[in-house]
Amino acid sequence: MASSKVYVVTGSNKGIGLAIVRALCKQNDGVVYLTARDENRGLQSVELLKKEGLNPSFHKLDIDDNKSIAEFRDFLKTTHGGLDVLVNNAAIAYKVNTTEPFSEQAEVTCRINFFATMNCCNELFPLLRPHARVVNVSSSCGFLKRINGKEPESLELQKRFANPNLATDELISLVNDFVQSAKENTHSSKGWPNSAYVVSKVSVSALTRIQQREIDQTRPNDDILVNHVHPGYVDTDMTSHKGPLTIDQGAEAPTWLAILPANNAANPKGQYVWNNKAIVDWVNGPTPSSV
Ligand SMILES: NC(=O)c1ccc[n+]([C@@H]2O[C@H](COP(=O)([O-])OP(=O)(O)OC[C@H]3O[C@@H](n4cnc5c(N)ncnc54)[C@H](OP(=O)(O)O)[C@@H]3O)[C@@H](O)[C@H]2O)c1
Repeated sequence: MASSKVYVVTGSNKGIGLAIVRALCKQNDGVVYLTARDENRGLQSVELLKKEGLNPSFHKLDIDDNKSIAEFRDFLKTTHGGLDVLVNNAAIAYKVNTTEPFSEQAEVTCRINFFATMNCCNELFPLLRPHARVVNVSSSCGFLKRINGKEPESLELQKRFANPNLATDELISLVNDFVQSAKENTHSSKGWPNSAYVVSKVSVSALTRIQQREIDQTRPNDDILVNHVHPGYVDTDMTSHKGPLTIDQGAEAPTWLAILPANNAANPKGQYVWNNKAIVDWVNGPTPSSV
């Protein structure tokens, strides 16, 4: 088993994550883990794919639970000795008409979409084998210019996120500042947008750039790629089924990044990739117009 590839997709019991697992299973060159925070929902989705003639494996993984992440890490280490592909897909989004206070939306959305994703990476990255591919599922909302609140404060925030030498601690304090400001209802005057989802996804995108930079420093010869992707506007529960793309179409760009060939100089590296697979300049734009 140690010689075949090991793929992991977080939050893959439904939506785009499920379709990424489906596409990776079709590669037929290793073990693909469909993971879910709820075991029953996960196993049902495994059964669905089995009926299609595919053979995903299942493991429970709640990225919002450090114990669950540690158990999965230990399982991967013992069973496979490493990891080749990690797709950080799990996320949440409050509906636009939600009645939850903004302070709560900010805290919960950033905790799951940013902090939990980062924790999961911190635990699983030591398992990454040479030529590993990490795909952070961001969003069009993760585009830097979506930090578009009151000026000049928002431009200053953009500058801090865009710093090519941004340290993880600084990124964490930016996110904490947003959450704290949302609690104090001062976020707008400080230039933050009125969307917790935007801040969480911009932060995931900024994290991607840090992760690639650090891997280049610590493992320069291992051809490990970390990219962030906008999967398109997709027909899922998250969008209340308003997106025009099918989940399989939404899986196309993330899957492409997950299986980039080894040692190819043309591969995107630490890049923001749109659903049509075009590389987008995360800092300077322009904003692509496609879905
Ligand atoms: N759909 C779009 O148009 C769109 C556009 C841009 C970006 N995205 C991004 O694409 C990704 C997938 O979105 P989607 O539309 O497929 O959403 P979705 O249908 O709502 O699926 C989200 C998945 O994440 C899981 N999840 C949430 N919290 C988790 C946790 N703590 N631990 C493990 N899994 C957790 C959910 O599990 P449960 O079933 O247990 O809730 C579900 O499986 C997300 O990162 C999203 O932000 C989507």
